[in-house]
Amino acid sequence: MSKLGKSILFVCQKCGKESLKWLGRCPDCQEWNSFVETTPVIPATSSRPRSAGKPPQELSQVASQVASRSPLPLVEFNRVLGGGLVAGSLVLISGEPGIGKSTLLLQASAATAQDKTVVYVSGEETPHQIKLRAERLGIKGDGLYLLAEADLEVIFNQIEQLSPGLVVIDSIQTVYFPELGAAPGSVTQVRDCTLRLMQWAKFNSVPVFIAGHVTKDGTIAGPRVMEHIVDVVLYLEGEAFSAYRLLRCVKNRFGSTNEIGVFEMKEKGLIEVANPSRAFLSQRNEEAIGSAVVATLEGSRPLLVEIQALTTPTSFGLPRRTANGVDFNRLLLVTAVLTKRVGLRLGNQDIMVNVIGGLKIGEPAADLGIALAITSSFRDTAVDPNLAAVGEVGLSGEIRAVSQPDRRVAEAARLGFKRCLVPKAGAGTGLSHQDIEIIPVSTLKEAIGVGLVKKRGKEE
Ligand SMILES: Nc1ncnc2c1ncn2[C@@H]1O[C@H](COP(=O)(O)OP(=O)(O)O)[C@@H](O)[C@H]1O
Ligand SMILES: [Mg+2]
Ligand SMILES: [Zn+2]
Repeated sequence: MSKLGKSILFVCQKCGKESLKWLGRCPDCQEWNSFVETTPVIPATSSRPRSAGKPPQELSQVASQVASRSPLPLVEFNRVLGGGLVAGSLVLISGEPGIGKSTLLLQASAATAQDKTVVYVSGEETPHQIKLRAERLGIKGDGLYLLAEADLEVIFNQIEQLSPGLVVIDSIQTVYFPELGAAPGSVTQVRDCTLRLMQWAKFNSVPVFIAGHVTKDGTIAGPRVMEHIVDVVLYLEGEAFSAYRLLRCVKNRFGSTNEIGVFEMKEKGLIEVANPSRAFLSQRNEEAIGSAVVATLEGSRPLLVEIQALTTPTSFGLPRRTANGVDFNRLLLVTAVLTKRVGLRLGNQDIMVNVIGGLKIGEPAADLGIALAITSSFRDTAVDPNLAAVGEVGLSGEIRAVSQPDRRVAEAARLGFKRCLVPKAGAGTGLSHQDIEIIPVSTLKEAIGVGLVKKRGKEE
């Protein structure tokens, strides 16, 4: 860009796409009105003399080193991080405003401050406001230093004086680097500040947490670019009406992803939920029509979750489909298969599907549960209350294999379920468990025949 002799550049605030002229719609991420005029920063590298640097090292000669992790005293947080914080790692915690990022980070800071100096930098709240929250959470705060500052240069100057063991930046959208000239929260600032924080963390071997707000459509405001830079990306999720919060790892350079931690938002902050399956099923009405329990797998952790469905005749126009916590396209697929392969007349029905507890299920293994819940509501017949189900639904109405069915079955047995529907395909027929009857099924029609309670005079 520096070669073009122009001093103006337009940058998409959602994905970081650059353009020499203003565009109404981003050709990369399809966002409307996302281009903002920005003064490009000319990289200093062009005029710098080339330095000798370090020669390449033969792989076999590189000393092996196990990333040293310091476990946080919060069990669920640790699990999601893959066992602890790695020195010099940059961890992004993103989530909607109000979901509890600051709360979680303050709790993690206080816990870490028991043996290390922690600096909590807030560009959003004053130390007084943070003190109020700390008092509510029962945090005394020895070893925990607060800094209300947004200028990244000042932040670096200040934190280096304390040589901390952990730094928290809350949030990335409020910090800025003065030389850039762009507004805080713009893609330019967010990307550049993240890079600088990364360099700082690596150079000083200090782990850094950054909080990032996401917009309603689920992307991190502007900076999806951040996700490429940082070492670990965690999402804090939950529904406004539910107290449950899920901490999900979607990227981890030092461990496995897709681990989740489950918390409950309470007066005293985010409290870890030790037995999430039990918590998610606690309000279940066993006789309920339109309710099915699925054994889903979140990372390495099996979770039992209730899926509810409601079908009602469409009053006018096109039938509506609403998916809450399940993938909308999976709902359409399951509905189409139920119509075509099972013969349910859903074409004139509005269908609503909801996952209890604010959990979002991404995996197709929940398909069978969705199908059972919809069929149950449509036929006004309950699903067997002692039954859990797992299986992906294929387009021809077959039940497809899922990963690790044994662990899902074991979780269902642990929670006292008596029967579990599993796909016959894959490991299905080889499974056994002393406490639960395992029923391998190969088609959706078959699964519905087994799963729904028989109603007198209405069998099909
Ligand atoms: N007195 C309180 N008792 C219980 N929960 C509270 C109280 N005050 C705030 N909260 C919870 O804390 C949340 C704010 O969390 P916060 O950590 O500030 O979110 P974020 O940093 O993600 O914007 C609120 O949505 C609310 O649920
Ligand atoms: Mg906050
Ligand atoms: Zn874009």
